[in-house]
Amino acid sequence: MTDVKTKAAAAFEEKFGAKPEMMSYSPGRVNIIGEHTDYNDGFVMPCAIKFGTAIAARKNGTDRMRVLAVDVNGEYDEFPVTADMDKHESKTWSNYLRGVTKLICERGCKFEGLDVAIAGDVPLGAGLSSSASLEVAFGNLISQAYGLGIELQDIALIGQAAEAFIGCKCGIMDQTISACGKKGCVMRLDCRTLDKQHVKVPEGLEILIVNSNVKHALVGGEYNERRAQCEKAAAVLGVKALRDATMEMLDAKKSELDDVTYRRARHVITEDDRVLAAVKAFESGDLAKLAQLMYASHCSMRDDFEITIPEIDGLVEIIRKAIGENAAVRMTGGGFGGSVVALVEPSKVEKVKAAIDAEYEKLSGRKATIIETYAADGANFSLL
Ligand code: GLA
Repeated sequence: MTDVKTKAAAAFEEKFGAKPEMMSYSPGRVNIIGEHTDYNDGFVMPCAIKFGTAIAARKNGTDRMRVLAVDVNGEYDEFPVTADMDKHESKTWSNYLRGVTKLICERGCKFEGLDVAIAGDVPLGAGLSSSASLEVAFGNLISQAYGLGIELQDIALIGQAAEAFIGCKCGIMDQTISACGKKGCVMRLDCRTLDKQHVKVPEGLEILIVNSNVKHALVGGEYNERRAQCEKAAAVLGVKALRDATMEMLDAKKSELDDVTYRRARHVITEDDRVLAAVKAFESGDLAKLAQLMYASHCSMRDDFEITIPEIDGLVEIIRKAIGENAAVRMTGGGFGGSVVALVEPSKVEKVKAAIDAEYEKLSGRKATIIETYAADGANFSLL
């Protein structure tokens, strides 16, 4: 068993005084390119990472979920298996579980309670989808434990709906890659049709994630505001979603849009094009093209979508300088903190690390965390 699985199993035994009967696991993700395009029915290109959430569990023969969060100071919560679910006022981690339980009940599925212990190693607030990995691991656990036969893509949709229950109107990217990722591959996901294509990570490129350690929180606020601005732009352009718009269509309506809404839409429309171009660059192993696309994506998030912060912009420039030519790097995830992702030739990894160590603290007053990952598989479940 991996570390987090062992940790979850040990905590389970300690709390519930019996061995767990099953283990559910689902990874976090890093998005290589395609930010804030998912809820615009567009394209994204994420991969699952080597960190995730493990849930050790056992049926408890009651109609209540009894849940222990090992990494949230060993906090404990209990709630009934019902569609008529309340949110917990302070244990926000439990609301993801409450949301998933509620949503599965709403599908008309019949199931009972579980005792569960949860352990994870996705850093929280790092833009690496710790919450999606929790939702998918828990949803898949309920489905598998009670033979509900819910497909992984549907588990992902349940996780997305659980986020809305909590207050974040997020897209479908994070839960889908957490559920359906494939080792060694990024996923080209069409967020309208949910069509997936697994594209191999080119040989000789390492995926490096640098956590700025400025925590982001997506619930409500800025995220939902961006989504509303995109929907407003789509309405003015007369399209279902910005996925259906082109730059020509946007420019033709420029006089009817305020500057902010125009720039939000420009980010999404150009970002969709960059994702499709990046898929081709992945297929042909064209690092120079990837570098160009990823930096253009970063600048668009910084200037048009306005979701980067100075610490993140600084990190991107430190890494660009260290890599020199063909620096494929950008902010990843929802924004307002979190992490930067880079595709780096192995010979340059040490140089990048040294540059971050030497320069990031001066700029931000804090240390960055560097994670070397591979593209991992999505969710798995096993009986113990
Ligand atoms: C968060 C959301 C996703 C997506 C990204 C931005 O991770 O959960 O649905 O919108 O932000 O690309």
